[in-house]
Amino acid sequence: MKEIFEAIKKSAIRIRYAIENDDTGYSQNQNTTGDVQLKLDIKSDLIIEEELSQIASVKELASEEKEHIEKIHEDGKYLIGYDPLDGSSLVDVNLSVGSIFGIYEDDYSGKNLKASVYVVYGPRVELVIGYDGEVQLYRLDSNDKFNFIQVINLNQKGKLNSPGGTQNCWHPHHKKLIEDIFLDGYRLRYSGGMVPDLHQILLKGGGLFSYPATSDNEKGKLRMTFEVFPFAQIFELAGGEAIDGERRLLDLTPLHIHDTTPCFFGSNEEIKKVKSAYVN
Ligand code: AHG
Repeated sequence: MKEIFEAIKKSAIRIRYAIENDDTGYSQNQNTTGDVQLKLDIKSDLIIEEELSQIASVKELASEEKEHIEKIHEDGKYLIGYDPLDGSSLVDVNLSVGSIFGIYEDDYSGKNLKASVYVVYGPRVELVIGYDGEVQLYRLDSNDKFNFIQVINLNQKGKLNSPGGTQNCWHPHHKKLIEDIFLDGYRLRYSGGMVPDLHQILLKGGGLFSYPATSDNEKGKLRMTFEVFPFAQIFELAGGEAIDGERRLLDLTPLHIHDTTPCFFGSNEEIKKVKSAYVN
């Protein structure tokens, strides 16, 4: 596992350099979801594939940017699902973006997720690892070394609310939940990049990030394998919870690697509010 974390660190340093220096324009290609890929999406994907395919314990790579799974080492143990540059459409306005990795065994189900990593490319580059019972934050220094900063733990209750999804497509019970949370004094924090938005909630002690089912998209937008499961594991290890409204996200299994799900990540008090709005 350690070799995989080291390969992710090398990828992060190369991707950060590309974000800072490369063309932020679109390519001619579309990904599986039909989004036109940025040149940076393609480059980040290639960098990660190059670094992770050198690791003997990696059996397969499943990228958000590719339709199919890539077989790497037949005798490898781990399957890695990753989103190379999440929120990449925010690069041209110079907001923070990220990379997300889920390291699985046997299949890409939530229960087989063994470790999770994400990288935030912001004013600083930070890397968070959820593994072995805890969540650790690292920061990149000027010698290209990631230094351990702290263990991340959520409080019982936070102050931030990050409500995703087109508001005029929210279902009435979801609209009421979000209104009630604001009436309870929570502050709005939503950049359009789940990595910096969830990172903020984790580091400020708590809150709620939601990307619900909507009338135009009953299965939500965010993908289980590449985005949702890794953050679900990190929130649980930090003492919070992650549900789809009713069920624990890590109990879900995608039928296809690109399947999406409604998702709620938060500290215990906020998830209690979600459950009472959703379970009836
Ligand atoms: P993409 O990588 O296609 O830019 O999507 C970003 C994801 C996620 O990071 C973010 O939370 C969500 O999409 C934002 O979606 P909305 O624009 O619908 O709020």
